[in-house]
Amino acid sequence: MRTDTPKTIYLKDYRPYPYALKKVELDFDIRDGKTTVKAISHFTKKPAENGDLYLNGEDLELVSIALNGQTPEFAHDDKSLTIKAADLPDEFTLEIITNITPETNTRLEGLYMSGGNYCTQCEAEGFRRITYFPDRPDVMTIYTVRLEADKAKFPVLLSNGNLTQTGDAADGRHFAIWHDLHPKPCYLFALVAGDLTHIHDIFTTKSGRKVDLYIYVRHGDESQCDHAMESLKASMKWDEDVYGLEYDLDIFNIVAVSDFNMGAMENKSLNIFNTALVLAAQETATDTDYGRVESVIAHEYFHNWSGNRVTCRDWFQLSLKEGLTVFRDQEFSADMGARAVQRIDDVTHLRRLQFTEDAGPLAHPIRPDNYIEINNFYTMTVYEKGAEVIRMTRTILGPENYRKATDLYFSRHDGHAATCDDWIQCMEDASGLDLTQFRLWYSQAGTPEVSFKDHYDPKEKTYTVSLSQNIPNTPGQSDKKPMHIPVALGLLGPNGDDLVGTKILHLTEKSQSFTFEGIGAKPVPSVLRNFSAPVKLKANLPPADLQFLIRHDTDGFNRWEAAQRYMLDTLTAMIRTGDNETPPEFIAAIKGILESALIPGADKALIARMLSLPDISTIGQEQNLANPVAIYKARQDMLFVIKREHRDLLQAVYDANTQKGAFSITADAMATRALQNMALSILTCNYGTGCAKRAKAHYESANTMTGRMAALTALAPNPAAERREVFDDFYTRFKDYPLVIDKWFAVQAGAVRDDIIHQLKSLRQHPDFNIKNPNRARSLYASFAMNNPAAFHAADGSGYAFLADAIIELNAINPQIAARLLTPMRDWKRYTPDRQILMKSALERILNTPDLSPDVFEIASKSLT
Ligand code: BES
Ligand code: ZN
Repeated sequence: MRTDTPKTIYLKDYRPYPYALKKVELDFDIRDGKTTVKAISHFTKKPAENGDLYLNGEDLELVSIALNGQTPEFAHDDKSLTIKAADLPDEFTLEIITNITPETNTRLEGLYMSGGNYCTQCEAEGFRRITYFPDRPDVMTIYTVRLEADKAKFPVLLSNGNLTQTGDAADGRHFAIWHDLHPKPCYLFALVAGDLTHIHDIFTTKSGRKVDLYIYVRHGDESQCDHAMESLKASMKWDEDVYGLEYDLDIFNIVAVSDFNMGAMENKSLNIFNTALVLAAQETATDTDYGRVESVIAHEYFHNWSGNRVTCRDWFQLSLKEGLTVFRDQEFSADMGARAVQRIDDVTHLRRLQFTEDAGPLAHPIRPDNYIEINNFYTMTVYEKGAEVIRMTRTILGPENYRKATDLYFSRHDGHAATCDDWIQCMEDASGLDLTQFRLWYSQAGTPEVSFKDHYDPKEKTYTVSLSQNIPNTPGQSDKKPMHIPVALGLLGPNGDDLVGTKILHLTEKSQSFTFEGIGAKPVPSVLRNFSAPVKLKANLPPADLQFLIRHDTDGFNRWEAAQRYMLDTLTAMIRTGDNETPPEFIAAIKGILESALIPGADKALIARMLSLPDISTIGQEQNLANPVAIYKARQDMLFVIKREHRDLLQAVYDANTQKGAFSITADAMATRALQNMALSILTCNYGTGCAKRAKAHYESANTMTGRMAALTALAPNPAAERREVFDDFYTRFKDYPLVIDKWFAVQAGAVRDDIIHQLKSLRQHPDFNIKNPNRARSLYASFAMNNPAAFHAADGSGYAFLADAIIELNAINPQIAARLLTPMRDWKRYTPDRQILMKSALERILNTPDLSPDVFEIASKSLT
């Protein structure tokens, strides 16, 4: 066990940095096994502040330090370098030379190597692994960067801003100088030195400026970049149209690297991406991949304003840029594709992962007030709940005032580091509304529970809705105040018409009633339309109302929601009673959905989602103590019933959605594939030989990765011989495509089968497995622990032990990835007592590991409290 407890950082301790940084010149001399970094920083003392010059620095070899040309007095430890204020003039230049070894950097923070190329990842605190520097987002400055490296091995030299000079140097080397005229914090610094190819395009901004767009990839991958480029141009246009925000430099570069801890990074004018979120081609990417590439390209581009031009004062404000930018990318994707379906997918994701986080030991508000390791706070809460909070703000302000408020925000704070309070202040100033109560969303954790009751009075022709709210206790927070919750409500008349169109009810008190007059007949309520607030709704609508909403709700989201609710209620009853049959009305409701799929003009994407049963995690949230194995069984039983009762209809839906014509990624083509694959998944749910043959035939006729993956998913748990045949064929076909081999690992790790641990262990030994590559490590471990709950939560604890071993191994290699893999262990108290004991002991074993990183320590120790 660690003897020293890592230090906790508190929001209340924030102090401005006492020095202003006028500009910095960085010089990178990149040589095999050693990169020398010279940093020349021009500081001035801030008259209103005082304090020593504190510079962060980790794993650096200090070569020399000079203050205005002289060696200063300084203190130095393994995390910092400090010069006393008394030893500093009002204005000074600091020159620091450090050596670093990117070749051995397995953390993938700071300067590291991927696929033989050099690249950086500085957010949140990676820059301190490059040089001694005030590594905090409120220190912004202008960067000039000189890179020098071997010309043959690293022909491409990139950094932020504009290229001002290139040239040859001695010994077959060359250099490039980049200058970024926009002040930025060091977490947005980036460099790349490598042997890469690129595609190029031009975007003309609304004011007529031409921007050169480049996407750099490994040689041979250039044919898979078109979708990313189209997405980039669409994002640039969308931000102009919707937010009035224009790009501000003449060049925008994207570089794809195969070793990356996260999805992508918004470094100023030099975005660095995980290859998984750039490359897309018919043969190798699924429709989901295409959608993710589009949304992540947009997300990182949108950060140019929401994050870079206006950045965060400190990391507690992370949701200021991430929540806002996720909301922006969600809306972009909704505009590019199908709005209701986008909302359904976003909410499914929120419920599966954020609701669990908000109910567990690591629950925190979207603006946390303390952390040990900031990397651990790039959470579902900061991101996805953060986005929901922005969405509610827009709902409350209305679209016009919201746009006025964002205009104000981007002009008032341009070039500065801002806080969440600054954002809300702009919302108030532009709209004239008082958002005092709404601010509680930033400080109170936990998913609010909203109860809905209604009463119809036929004599008075009034319909009364009673809403009440409860915010559950979370670690360190109890007795919470009622929040401002916008509840969108519609009332449907007996014929399914909208009696009262969508209205926003502002729930601000603990309990509140709203009365509608002149309602001639008892309506069916459609509550929380479009998921207008991130809450758990307890409406207890009877099955008849749910059936009605499934058929008639004009809100696409709530039509889906009614089907989900109906499935959840039915499943919960099956689990409770041990029954493996469903009521006839339920079977009839599913029939209605399937039949609606065959009507010309049907919304196929929506129907595919209406037919998809809630996942095990979401079902588990309905229970006090979850048993994922039992949930899995009940869920399978429900699938068996649906298949048995509706086999012909499912076959008809399958047949009617066979793709004709050339490959396309239009919303229509994707919806057709989604619906056919949904039918396939139900038709193959009992893993018999017929299912195996059907899945194999699907594989053989598929002309897209979406189709092939649907077949693999159906086959993975099936013991028939077809499984091996198809998996071997797939491997042979795609062995040169690492992103496809990731899928091959992932789908096997996600299969529910008795010998799964044996399978995982042999995949672990596969020559293509490499724990140091985050995508590959995730394809095995996260796919198993996060996407295969029935196997992960096996009663004998074998799943927990397997994951714990991986976390302990990764702790020494890449602590950020190791800490993330703890996610499915955090809520151990949510499971049956036998599982609790096993999970707790796995967590304790992790906590007792020698040399435990602060990253893993924070999650493991907080989980156990
Ligand atoms: N700024 C982050 C990337 C990041 C996060 C770097 C944490 C270092 C530590 C980036 O904008 C981001 O949020 N990326 C997401 C994808 C996005 C679409 C939500 C990611 O990488 O998962
Ligand atoms: Zn982001």
